Amino acid sequence: AHQWQGVLREYADRLDVTEATPIVTLGEGGTPLIPAPALSARTGAKVFVKYEGMNPTGSFKDRGMTMAISKAVEHGAKAVICASTGNTSASAAAYAAHAGITAAVLVPEGKIAMGKLSQAVAHDGQLLQIQGNFDDCLDIARDLAANYPVHLVNSVNNDRIEGQKTAAFEVVDVLGDAPDFHFIPVGNAGNYTAYTRGYREDLEAGRATRLPRMFGFQAAGSAPIVAGEVVKAPETIASAIRIGNPASWQLALEARDLTNGWFGAITDEAILAAQKILAAEVGVFVEPASAISVAGLLERADAGVVPAGATVVLTVTGHGLKDPQWALRRADGSNVEPTVVASDTARVAEVLGLVPAS
Ligand code: F0G
Repeated sequence: AHQWQGVLREYADRLDVTEATPIVTLGEGGTPLIPAPALSARTGAKVFVKYEGMNPTGSFKDRGMTMAISKAVEHGAKAVICASTGNTSASAAAYAAHAGITAAVLVPEGKIAMGKLSQAVAHDGQLLQIQGNFDDCLDIARDLAANYPVHLVNSVNNDRIEGQKTAAFEVVDVLGDAPDFHFIPVGNAGNYTAYTRGYREDLEAGRATRLPRMFGFQAAGSAPIVAGEVVKAPETIASAIRIGNPASWQLALEARDLTNGWFGAITDEAILAAQKILAAEVGVFVEPASAISVAGLLERADAGVVPAGATVVLTVTGHGLKDPQWALRRADGSNVEPTVVASDTARVAEVLGLVPAS
């Protein structure tokens, strides 16, 4: 039976991998592109969800990490380093573990989700909580990589972008062409840049007839690209994208101009509402940062920018189990407390509102 071979083998002809590249893979990529009739009904567009939570460590980072770690090992690296809001650290630690090398990960103290922290620890990453935000962590990681024998695996490393562009290839492989619109969360804007590169290569190779308009979304309290200036103290419940000085800022602006794209800002309330809609109406549970793609679509559709019948792909970047606490919170801030019932069939039926079948 066929098993998906991971993105480096599946797309070997479109990546800088050779006989000399030791392929470090956990079988990443090949994620489902799920039709979302409930979102199509809400917007009039033809909506698909690219569910990146289905990757081995539960986020899209694995596509870039298989490439970055494979190339690092090819170049003789024994240790890698990254700054992270959580998902990159989980992925780096897992792929380093598989390769038998060390991963050091720098995260903002108290600001990454428990699921992601547990992953980095489980995979034996050297995890340090830095008394600063993500942007401070990235500055330190870059300093260390410049002056010590550690290989940087943040998305400022082009190998990461190269691996991540495979997600666009998969979309085109399934749809037979690029969509009209692509909606995606933005933190460092590495993934926005990577999809644009993948779509552009598909267009140039004749596998697609167009580029999608790339629509990227930042959280309102952490929206430097939308504001046009660095945000010194970024805030949002979507901790994955709590970033004030995006590493791929310039590349993202070029990608936006190339695709007639757009950057928008979304409030935390709208992010949580979209997370709920996606889970309850489509059956896909994602972390808050990922739900911003859905919130962005609803906002742009309301604004009249998405024509009826347009093909729309939403990338949802990370699994809901990474950061489950938000699903248990109501809009008014109270917590959902599942109902407790006596161990008795009749009583359970009564509470469920069931009447006996006649
Ligand atoms: N969604 C999730 C779930 C993420 O973890 C990230 C980035 C993004 C979206 C944004 O992607 O940075 O390429 O624009 N997380 C990084 C990390 C910063 O450290 O895990 P981007």
